[in-house]
Amino acid sequence: MRYRRTAIEIEAPESLGYDSIANNLAESSFADMSLGEYGIDTEVGELLLQYGDHRGDPALREQIAADAEAVAPDRVIVTAGAAPALFIVATALLESGDHVLVQEPNYATNLETPRALAAEVEALPIRYEDGWGLDLDRVRAMLRPQTRLLSITYPHNPTGAMIDAEALIELVGIVEAHPMARLLVDETYRELAYGDPLPVAAGLSTRAISVSSMSKTYGLPGLRIGWLISRDSELDETLLAAKEQILICGSAIDETMAVRILAARGRILPPIRETIAEHLGIVREWIGAQEVFEWVEPQAGVIGLPRFRAPGEYDVDRFYTALLERHGTYVGPGHWFDQPRSSFRLGFGWPATDELRRGLGALLAAAADARL
Ligand SMILES: Cc1ncc(COP(=O)(O)O)c(C=O)c1O
Repeated sequence: MRYRRTAIEIEAPESLGYDSIANNLAESSFADMSLGEYGIDTEVGELLLQYGDHRGDPALREQIAADAEAVAPDRVIVTAGAAPALFIVATALLESGDHVLVQEPNYATNLETPRALAAEVEALPIRYEDGWGLDLDRVRAMLRPQTRLLSITYPHNPTGAMIDAEALIELVGIVEAHPMARLLVDETYRELAYGDPLPVAAGLSTRAISVSSMSKTYGLPGLRIGWLISRDSELDETLLAAKEQILICGSAIDETMAVRILAARGRILPPIRETIAEHLGIVREWIGAQEVFEWVEPQAGVIGLPRFRAPGEYDVDRFYTALLERHGTYVGPGHWFDQPRSSFRLGFGWPATDELRRGLGALLAAAADARL
């Protein structure tokens, strides 16, 4: 492995210090929450802190499988967030030189772990000009007989792009036509769909692997609960072996809390979705009322990737410096995603409503400061 820290981790708001940011529009999750705010019973005094089930608490796996058609609880492997699940999948499937097709831009780990394994990582680009759409014919053309993995993320980070269930089913078919290939779908934002969520990909095919977590939808990244699902029993055994070598089992306390939260999903999710819809409306209105920035409106999730309409008219470095140092506002600059720095990820689900409004005002003020 050739480990390398990525810009998004080095420059993350938590690395900078939350206290140094007044208006945090850099996050990709719903607002960070406490268990108390969700009205969850936090009593664990009697909980025996033994090694748990290596796959994860059976009650938790049941909750996860209940949301995934054709997936049995014994096909779910709980991990400490989606990030280690992605690591496990990449290390279980890829060796040096293996061809892997990864959607780009993307959450950095989806590209970085295959790179760290010295796999041949080919970017499957999606572009602003195409409305961040995924061209399935292009996927067909880029897959090779030896391709080991096609890796996509939906709802998409950092653009908020989405595909429909038909496209997902078509992708599964494309991958199934390639004997060596598997489809990895990073479904970390799945429950943040604006309409019906996509089917859990692992339920559609034994060649598809699903990864998700509780970090983004529930605003609980500190809980460190994620999972991966494969219905291929041989691969499932390998994935479990990887988990056992890294973690043995998960945290009994985290898993117990996760069960309690997912059991209350029906009560917890509607207000989250309402807030997100309201915040999306605020950004939509703001975008429409100014001429400095443009975006493709997100179709799911809590993030989008706006850009300067006329980047040549601004000093982009000065823009980011002014944005943080003069206006206390932080966004995810394009280089976090191997994109031009004249674009940036804007997170509208994490900040409080006033903070979001102030942050949007700050973007225009910093652009004025950076005008050439
Ligand atoms: C698409 C995607 N996958 C996975 C992760 C990892 O999140 P976690 O490990 O907290 O579940 C993130 C975090 O930003 C993400 O955006």
